[in-house]
Amino acid sequence: MSTEPVPLHGPHAGSGGAEFYDRMRAERGPVFPVVLEGGVPAWLVIGYRELQEALTRPDVFARDSRRWNRWDLIPPDWPLLPLVMPMPTVLNTEGEEHRRHSAAITEALSAVDLHELRTVTARFADRLIDGFCASGSADLRALFAFRLPALVLAWAYGLEEEHGDTLATVMTTMLDGGPDSMAAQGTLLAEMTALVAARRAAPGPDVISRLIAHPAAFTDEELVPELIVVLGGGHQPTGEWIGNALRLMLTDDRFGASLAGSRLSVSEALNEVLWEDTPTQIYAGRYAAHDVELGGHRIATGDLVLLGLAGANRDPALHRASAGGHANRAHLSFSHGDHRCPHAAQEMAEVIAVTAVEVLLDRLPDLELAVPAEELRWRPSPWMRGVTSLPVVFSSVPPLRSPFP
Ligand code: HEM
Repeated sequence: MSTEPVPLHGPHAGSGGAEFYDRMRAERGPVFPVVLEGGVPAWLVIGYRELQEALTRPDVFARDSRRWNRWDLIPPDWPLLPLVMPMPTVLNTEGEEHRRHSAAITEALSAVDLHELRTVTARFADRLIDGFCASGSADLRALFAFRLPALVLAWAYGLEEEHGDTLATVMTTMLDGGPDSMAAQGTLLAEMTALVAARRAAPGPDVISRLIAHPAAFTDEELVPELIVVLGGGHQPTGEWIGNALRLMLTDDRFGASLAGSRLSVSEALNEVLWEDTPTQIYAGRYAAHDVELGGHRIATGDLVLLGLAGANRDPALHRASAGGHANRAHLSFSHGDHRCPHAAQEMAEVIAVTAVEVLLDRLPDLELAVPAEELRWRPSPWMRGVTSLPVVFSSVPPLRSPFP
């Protein structure tokens, strides 16, 4: 078996997917060395058992990126810096400090009423659809899937609709990683700082006010990055989840026949995406607290271990163990262990995604792809799986009311 590191960047890395993981498992096994942009080494874990082991031993596979032994290789403009940057947030903290952050976020998100969330999501979905429904064609990624979660999360933060729309634009600009991405990040920081000050002065029934009121007693320096983590960590994967489910329904005959009909197929499509094309394909990550063996390799203290969530979902060991096919939820798409996606966040994501697809199919029942399925492209990223665009055509219908300005 080759021990040469596998590049996770450049033209050969592509966008991952089933073929990549099946080949890697056959050629490299459940754990293997990879190399990131700039020649930076790491380990990728795609074996289900090995990943479970890493996720359930936080004392060995620890979360704080200050433990990393390769900071010497990282220039200030390293493109993956946002994935590993040490910040005092729920993502990067460990032990008692992590429990403090996690409890506050869980309580603040759990207080969101899921029925109200559904109503609000449907209202925003309608407004987005109003923006393009008369034209008979649209790119559903840009105009719908990748805007809706930010609007809904902005509502959960207590923002007015127009303000939420601006935030959705800033958020997508930042996450798209284009030339305006850094400026967008600056705008977002300023927005969140102002919001925290406003909520401290006048609390409301929203996630930010609840975080402020929590006994965790966060400082502004903690709250501002935390709010960005929850907004970004919620918006991007939920947007890709909606987009990937729509792609599946528009390209796969099993769903195509029922696009205009059965509601049941919406949750089936969303669940199948979590198995086959999950948004968070690889997550960075964990850092070895001491030398340890994993999947037949010696991981040295401080090594970066990347969570191959999509790869582990395809592990035949898991599929054999899981009777019931896609219907069961044994996948690792929301990760596992102390740092997994909080249950309340998962529930919110599901309500947003189900409602988004249902409203879209209700409003535009004869939706179909505007290009042959083979022309759809995955974004060239091994980290997040989503289509570059999702062009569709449909019979034009008048808006329900005036869309966002
Ligand atoms: C409303 C939407 C969502 C919100 C607010 C949200 C929020 C969060 C937060 C706060 C964490 C950090 C947990 C911690 O470190 O203790 C997290 C982790 C995570 N989320 Fe979500 N999330 C959302 C949707 C999703 C979706 C749709 C996916 C993928 C299908 C996803 C995948 C993950 C994964 C893989 C992690 C864990 C990373 C790890 O193990 O370190 N999330 N999420």
